[in-house]
Amino acid sequence: MLIGMAQGPGVLPLLDRYPGLLDYIELPFELLRHDPSSLAVRNAAPIILHCASMSIAGFVPPADATLDAIAAQVDLTGTPWIGEHLAFISADPLPGSALHDSTTLTYTVCPQLSEQVLANACANVTRFQERFSVPLIVENSPQYFVLPGSTMSIVDFVAEFHQRTGVGMLLDLAHFRISALNMKFAAEREILRLPLEQVVEIHVSGLDVQAETAWDDHAGLADEATFDLLHAVLSRARPRAITFEYNWSPELDEEVIVRQIDRARSMCLNA
Ligand SMILES: [Fe+2]
Repeated sequence: MLIGMAQGPGVLPLLDRYPGLLDYIELPFELLRHDPSSLAVRNAAPIILHCASMSIAGFVPPADATLDAIAAQVDLTGTPWIGEHLAFISADPLPGSALHDSTTLTYTVCPQLSEQVLANACANVTRFQERFSVPLIVENSPQYFVLPGSTMSIVDFVAEFHQRTGVGMLLDLAHFRISALNMKFAAEREILRLPLEQVVEIHVSGLDVQAETAWDDHAGLADEATFDLLHAVLSRARPRAITFEYNWSPELDEEVIVRQIDRARSMCLNA
């Protein structure tokens, strides 16, 4: 079992002070594409590639050039798999733009939870997988509200997606708790309805509650409830990797991060 962190301003200084703390650094494809020099972090630790460009749960496909660029980064980074989101990021062209210019939303959006979207997402992931030499694994979205036309819960949507496709799960515990808080279901009970034997990687990060809504927060530390959920998941899952996504702020307490990493390692050893 490997432990890593998402690349952010605090990761390389942390590795300077705690050599060997991390088995890998999670790096976004979009950063590598925009700034190829970011590949240099592989001098500090191996890279696992994360991606937010495929729009798996959307109806506007990524450009062929984007899929080719992701495949090229697979080869350059030596990543064992590609993490992508069960979400959409591309939408139809804005009025006035060329018909082939899709709109990039710049944020992965939880889709309408319906049979039509589910079937399309399953077809997309199967088609995209053919382009890559390593497996795609797919991450659950945080749900902030119910999109019109939704007919199922996010738990049923995610479970069905993985059961139908056999694709590995990137289980983001903060996203799951955010969905549970916003949709008012019991996280520790509902998470056991997912096909946890398909979990390949787990994401750990903070969450923030504002105006009675829970939000994703990579500038905050995971709390005790997230570790309780990790404990519940480890009773069924054997993840190959746990990534701490503390990449929005360099201000987090390093000693707490190191303690959390040690705790996750020992939880996996004792599970
Ligand atoms: Fe995540």
